Amino acid sequence: MEQTLVLIKPDAVGAHHIGDITKAYEEDGLQIRAMKMMQMTDRIARIHYAEHLEKPFYGELAAFMTSAPLVAMVLAGENAIARVRELHGATNPANAAEGTIRKRFAKNGSENAVHASDSPESAAREVHIFFSETEIF
Ligand code: CMP
Repeated sequence: MEQTLVLIKPDAVGAHHIGDITKAYEEDGLQIRAMKMMQMTDRIARIHYAEHLEKPFYGELAAFMTSAPLVAMVLAGENAIARVRELHGATNPANAAEGTIRKRFAKNGSENAVHASDSPESAAREVHIFFSETEIF
């Protein structure tokens, strides 16, 4: 069983797609092990997106991610990291495959509906930015 950290971003929460997106994970057989609504702070953004701090788009990314509530989840299943990334589709919805979450719900490459861990190392790090061990079932 592999775990991955998913964020339903402020654009998708604001557009009332929490249910649609959660349903896509459950229909694929992934298990929800933890879930909460919260607002990302500047400090959490700097920790979560540490690898993007020096990128030209960091300011825009942090402003968007802290602008309104998001939903954080821990999903578990066989190959959960790769499966969730496949369900999400490409970062930019213009390049995302038909039927993927980003094709269905993302506005653009910045307001792109969802985030998921990209490796076992990121998953181990990111899960514990948002959840303590006792919040994961
Ligand atoms: P995410 O999976 O949350 O990880 C990093 C995020 O940075 C990515 O999704 C996008 O939302 C955002 N991002 C990546 N590239 C760009 C870009 N060129 N301009 C703005 N935002 C970007």
